[in-house]
Amino acid sequence: MKLLLTSSSRHGSTDEVAAVIAERLRSAEIDVDTAQPEDVESVDGYDAFILGSAVYMTKWTNAAVAFTERFREALSAKPVWAFSVGLSGLPKGKMADPQRIGPVLLALEPEDHITFAGRFDPDRLSLRERSIAKLGGAAEGDFRDWDQVREWADAIVTSLRDRPL
Ligand SMILES: Cc1cc2nc3c(=O)[nH]c(=O)nc-3n(C[C@H](O)[C@H](O)[C@H](O)COP(=O)(O)O)c2cc1C
Repeated sequence: MKLLLTSSSRHGSTDEVAAVIAERLRSAEIDVDTAQPEDVESVDGYDAFILGSAVYMTKWTNAAVAFTERFREALSAKPVWAFSVGLSGLPKGKMADPQRIGPVLLALEPEDHITFAGRFDPDRLSLRERSIAKLGGAAEGDFRDWDQVREWADAIVTSLRDRPL
């Protein structure tokens, strides 16, 4: 069983979520390759996929969307899980829901899609990004819930074990 986990991040918080998922799968003896979507040239030989992206302006990154388009056929033949990292849905936050992710994921028909709360650390952002995020109502802080991330990874392990590949 070999799995490809792609992660598309601008400021690292999505990559850190991906790393925790990868570690969890590896501890369950699943062989996981991790990559940035733009670096992947072939998906031959993978039995399953986990695709993750940060959400910016209600969308996955261009690289993450392009990956789903480049490999749509191969992805539709295998189990795919997807996760987004954003700040919508937080009690204090007003960030837009990632609606435009919908069409991407619908075309993929993932086994599951989850949105994890991310991090908004103005010090790591450009002035432009900081202004957009503040205008969008982002609450400052690191809201990543590592237990939730690990639970989601464990559910994938269970699901993979239950299916004949
Ligand atoms: C300019 C900007 C726009 C954003 N737009 C959204 C959005 O539309 N929806 C959302 O849920 N989060 C949004 N966020 C929050 C990011 O998704 C969040 O900070 C995430 O943790 C960033 O991931 P990264 O560190 O992997 O790049 C935005 C953040 C910035 C800085």
